[in-house]
Amino acid sequence: MKPYKRSRVAIIGMGAVGTTTGYTLLLRQRMSELVFIDLNEKKAKGEMLDMNHGLPFLGGVKVWAGTYEDCKEADIIIITAGASQKPGETRIDLLKKNAAIFEEIIDQIVKINDHGIMLIATNPVDILSYISWKRSGWPHSRVIGSGTLLDSARFRYLIGTYKGIDPRSIHAHIIGEHGDSELPVWSLANVAGTPLVIPEEDKTDIFNSTKNAAYEIIDAKGATSYAIGLALDRIVAAILGDEGAVLNVSALLTGYNGVSDVYLGVPCIVDHSGVRELLDLPLNQEEREAFHRSADKLKAEIAKLSI
Ligand code: LAC
Repeated sequence: MKPYKRSRVAIIGMGAVGTTTGYTLLLRQRMSELVFIDLNEKKAKGEMLDMNHGLPFLGGVKVWAGTYEDCKEADIIIITAGASQKPGETRIDLLKKNAAIFEEIIDQIVKINDHGIMLIATNPVDILSYISWKRSGWPHSRVIGSGTLLDSARFRYLIGTYKGIDPRSIHAHIIGEHGDSELPVWSLANVAGTPLVIPEEDKTDIFNSTKNAAYEIIDAKGATSYAIGLALDRIVAAILGDEGAVLNVSALLTGYNGVSDVYLGVPCIVDHSGVRELLDLPLNQEEREAFHRSADKLKAEIAKLSI
C-alpha cells in the first residue's frame, strides 16, 4: 500500500480537450484531486457533476468546479482554454486571440501558485508555451507544452497500421512545431532497434496523414479530443509518477541541434520536476534543416508579438 500523497491537477478550460482530459485523468485515477476552472462556471459545474456521479464506479478522486484560488495547491495546471481551430484554420491563426487570453490566465496563476507545473495544450501550443514561460517567470522546466507527443502518436499509429505492428512497438519521432512545419525523423525510426524500411512514396503518405490529421478530424467532428486527452494524461502520469519518461513535449530550446530561444516538440525526460533534460537527436542534414525552418517560422511569429 503506497503511503497517501495528495496530488492536485487543475484544468483551465472546459471545452472538448479540457473535459476529455479531465475524464481520462479520472478514469486512470492519476491524482487525488481534480478541479475544473472555466469562465463559464455553469459549464464547469455541469462537467463536475456528471463526472462525480460516476465515482461510485471509480472512487478515489475528489472532483470539483473551482476558481483560480484552487490552483494554489495544484501540482499541475493544465491550460486548454482559448479559441480552437475551425475547419480550414491553421493553429497559427489562433495566436493573436489566444495570446491575449493567456496574458490573463498566466497573471491569475502566478498570483496564487509558485511551485506547480504548467502544462499547455491550447494552440498554437509552442508559442503559447513560450509566452507562458516568459510571462510567468517560472523556470522553463516547469512550463511544458503538449508539443509533438500527439503527432508522434499519430505517426506511430500510422506506421504500425502500415506494418501490421502494435504502435507501442514503433519508435518514431515527429519533432518541431505542433503544426504545419513539423517534421518526421525517418532516419531514426525503428522497430526493436531495426531501421524501418518503407518506400519513399509511402513515407510521404504516412507523414502527410500525420501532419494533416487534426484538419481531417476537425472537419469531420468539429474538434479533436480523445488522443490529445490521452497525451496530456501520459504527461501527467510521468510528472506525478516521477517516471523519467521520454516524451516529445514542447520545451524551451537552448542550443538544441543549434536552435535556441524557442519552444518546440523534442524528446524530453519528464519527471516530478517537469522537463528534466532534452535528448539531442542525431538528425541528418535534411532533418536538421527542416528543424531549423520550423524554429524560424515560430520565431518569426513570436517577433510580431510584444512579449
Ligand atoms: C490536434 C490539436 C490538439 O492536433 O492541435 O489534435
